[in-house]
Amino acid sequence: MNLDTILPGTMLPMAYVLATILFILALGGLSNQETARRGNWYGIIGMAIAFAATVLWEVDANGIELAVAMFLGGIIGLVAAARVQMTQMPELVAILHSLVGLAAVAVGYANFLGHEGGHDAAMKTIHDIETYVGVLIGAVTFSGSVIAFGKLSGRIGGKPLTLPGRHWLNLLLLLGAIWFGIEFVQQSAAGVTAGAPGLAGHAGFLPLIVMTVIALLFGIHMVMAIGGADMPVVVSMLNSYSGWAASAIGFMLGNDLLIVTGALVGSSGAILSYIMCRAMNRKFLNVIAGGFGTGGGGAAAGSGEQGEVVPIEAEETAGLLESAKEVMIIPGYGMAVAQAQHVVNEITRKLRDQGVNVRFGIHPVAGRMPGHMNVLLAEAKVPYDIVFEMDEINDDFPDVDVSVVIGANDIVNPSALEEPDSPIAGMPVLECWKGKTTIVLKRSMATGYAGVQNPLFFKDNTRMLFGDARETLEAVNQAL
Ligand code: TAP
Repeated sequence: MNLDTILPGTMLPMAYVLATILFILALGGLSNQETARRGNWYGIIGMAIAFAATVLWEVDANGIELAVAMFLGGIIGLVAAARVQMTQMPELVAILHSLVGLAAVAVGYANFLGHEGGHDAAMKTIHDIETYVGVLIGAVTFSGSVIAFGKLSGRIGGKPLTLPGRHWLNLLLLLGAIWFGIEFVQQSAAGVTAGAPGLAGHAGFLPLIVMTVIALLFGIHMVMAIGGADMPVVVSMLNSYSGWAASAIGFMLGNDLLIVTGALVGSSGAILSYIMCRAMNRKFLNVIAGGFGTGGGGAAAGSGEQGEVVPIEAEETAGLLESAKEVMIIPGYGMAVAQAQHVVNEITRKLRDQGVNVRFGIHPVAGRMPGHMNVLLAEAKVPYDIVFEMDEINDDFPDVDVSVVIGANDIVNPSALEEPDSPIAGMPVLECWKGKTTIVLKRSMATGYAGVQNPLFFKDNTRMLFGDARETLEAVNQAL
């Protein structure tokens, strides 16, 4: 028996099954902080196996082109990963999602143009539907992710674009995509039955192009309509779309591993979107319909004069912390900007040595990506067992002596609960104002991501420690 023919037949599916199992283990590992590192390793090994197996047994031509593309892609990836700041991670993820979408579009077109016929009519129709759906999902993912990248990086404002009759526009685009889909399949089938060579062999090209433009517009409009406050859902939703786009590529290329991996990413992204919606008390369809959340930046939306702000200095903060029994630290996006997690860990260690019970309260959408705060705290080696989810500790605030809000704003905003017309109305928040004292660390009175003023800063039991969070915390640490 010829080894060459046996090996691909058995080794490739085996490698793919192994990679799939490793991807599932990776997802399982990533669900918990203690096992997250292991989960990452499963993912890395699974991807290496998948990659090697595909290159060794699936590719039989164009080796040089593949090697050059791999080399260039690898270098770009390495440089991007090495350069990116932790605070820019969500943008990087968004732009990487856009590449998956673009790949799906490119594979779809290559598949369509390179297809010379030869299948029977039924197979051709199935193949055409795969191509059409793949290009559709890919184009929406691509343009939506590019806009999300723009919004997350501040290149595009956070204000939702609410065109008049935008729901009708979306419906129109959807119906257009369906209509051109039917046209595409019919024209393509007619082209084959006629058996005509040349351009007629690509019958259906025009509807495919029109649909691509429609899908690109839909992606742009969908994400543009979503306000700053809803971006967490968009990030996870595009994550899900990129998975389905990869799955679609798998169908087009007949690659089982891509289908399975794409489905894993697509469904886990969908679950994450659901979790994000629940965390923000939002309905998924309302988020997609858009128009929620104002622009970010300095202007305080819907706020009048709120009252007095009471500043505090680092020494006094240290004194309050030392005399406290229960301390709750609430990190937010500003901790990531200031890279203050290491000094936070130092302070935590000192206070715990002095018998103070220090805990961390993590809001599900704190920062700019899911798990942002957990990653930073894990990096600084804050013990996992003192880091709590919002739901676990929100009832404990009346017993907390000092809450330290580090560069967080929207996630501790009482107007989410008290003002029904606030852009973040209904979003559960960490109710730190119910404790004895809250110390808020930030540089100015600027608003957070959702662009809403925060009445917490004006409460009698709130003190503002102004300045870059790392600098002020280093001063607190000195004073301790
Ligand atoms: P934000 O509401 O954005 O507030 C962060 C605060 O940090 C700002 O008010 C800023 O005030 C302060 N800050 C920035 N740099 C600082 C520095 N160097 N030192 C000290 N303070 C600094 O953050 P949050 O409370 O974490 O809430 C997250 C927001 O982002 C939510 O609205 C959420 O919906 C949105 N979002 C979340 C995600 C995910 S998935 N987590 C994704 C996209 C959007 P100053 O400028 O005055 O310093």
